[in-house]
Amino acid sequence: MIRVNQAGEMGAKIIYEGQKKALKLKGDTKTLELIEHMQQQEIEHFDYFDKLLKDKKIRPTIMQPIWQVGGFIMGFATAMIDKKAAMTCTTAVEEVIDDHYQEQLDYLDNIETNDKNNSKDLKELKDKITQFRQEELEHRDIGYNNDADKLIFFKPLSALIKHTTKLAILFSKKI
Ligand SMILES: [Fe+2]
Ligand SMILES: [Fe+2]
Repeated sequence: MIRVNQAGEMGAKIIYEGQKKALKLKGDTKTLELIEHMQQQEIEHFDYFDKLLKDKKIRPTIMQPIWQVGGFIMGFATAMIDKKAAMTCTTAVEEVIDDHYQEQLDYLDNIETNDKNNSKDLKELKDKITQFRQEELEHRDIGYNNDADKLIFFKPLSALIKHTTKLAILFSKKI
């Protein structure tokens, strides 16, 4: 769980890095502000899981370099195409992440432990995932409030990004 979350939040951070690069080239400061706000939260999400990964000596996914390059390209390309496409990228990713975090919360709810330290760790992890999930839902709403679904090819682009995100989650869980 920590491995896939660390990879995912890193991906989110980098997608927005790509979008920022494109928006700066286009001089779209208004959209840039929205992206910077969301990226700031992704940085906090990433830092939490990255610290946990290191503390618990968990190996990061070997796919990390690929997600870094892929995430940047996806962010840059969507923001270059159209502001609405950039927002579609956010709505699609966040809808997948919403389910992903909810699944983890359900899983954590079913773990029972009598170990005091363990249960403290578990409680903290659950609180963090709950908080992050809430923030991802806010990002999704920002996407829709900024016309993501008014993009002419919203449906196919959204489907493509959702498939890619699900695949990235699957790979990061396994390897
Ligand atoms: Fe996040
Ligand atoms: Fe997010």
